[in-house]
Amino acid sequence: MTLVFPRESLGVFPAHLTPSYKSTVKRSPKKPLIVVPHTLSELTGPVYGHEAVQEGDNDLTRQHAGEPLGERIIVHGQLLDEDRRPLPGVLVEIWQANASGRYVHVVDQHPAPLDPNFTGAGRIITDKNGYYKFISVKPGAYPWGNHHNAWRPNHIHFSLFGHSFLSRLITQMYFPGDPLFPFDPIFNSVTDEKARNRMVAAFDLENTVPEWALCYRFDIVLRGREQTPMEH
Ligand SMILES: [Fe+2]
Repeated sequence: MTLVFPRESLGVFPAHLTPSYKSTVKRSPKKPLIVVPHTLSELTGPVYGHEAVQEGDNDLTRQHAGEPLGERIIVHGQLLDEDRRPLPGVLVEIWQANASGRYVHVVDQHPAPLDPNFTGAGRIITDKNGYYKFISVKPGAYPWGNHHNAWRPNHIHFSLFGHSFLSRLITQMYFPGDPLFPFDPIFNSVTDEKARNRMVAAFDLENTVPEWALCYRFDIVLRGREQTPMEH
């Protein structure tokens, strides 16, 4: 299969430099980008890590002896291309803070408790309908020191890995109605409002499980006018 990755329709992605998001000042390129032609190795391989995914890797509440603290949630959706065709066989990986807003990472010294029953990472491969589903707990907001009183809205990081090195999207999923949206330079580094809202999941009452967990729907579109923006 030959995959073509046009450079058009990249407009929804945030600029490399967004001064209010301080990390971008140091990491954004100062010189014009050099366009490297895509060759066969980028377009065809490898199929990275797909075979290592186990049944149950998509349930972040069952990786330890007990269940994690917090509000149990279901996050599910479909991966679609620009013509809304489903994308099967895509590796979807997520990582997130625990319910208290703390990551299991040495750099995260936010004085909120770690949860011995929560690591905060999961993965799944989309089925023939491009569908994925995770069970988790709702991540807490956390401070991040970008500016005075800076707090990240609740979010889950998503990484998508398709059939080659170039079929890749890293983004963040947000929860509807978060009061921190207007104050978050990362969320607002996607300057197009419609594109920004494509990073916000929809509350899904139909698939909310009574007495068990709220459900959120997060469809992701790769390429084209409805593209879900890249966000690190
Ligand atoms: Fe985060």
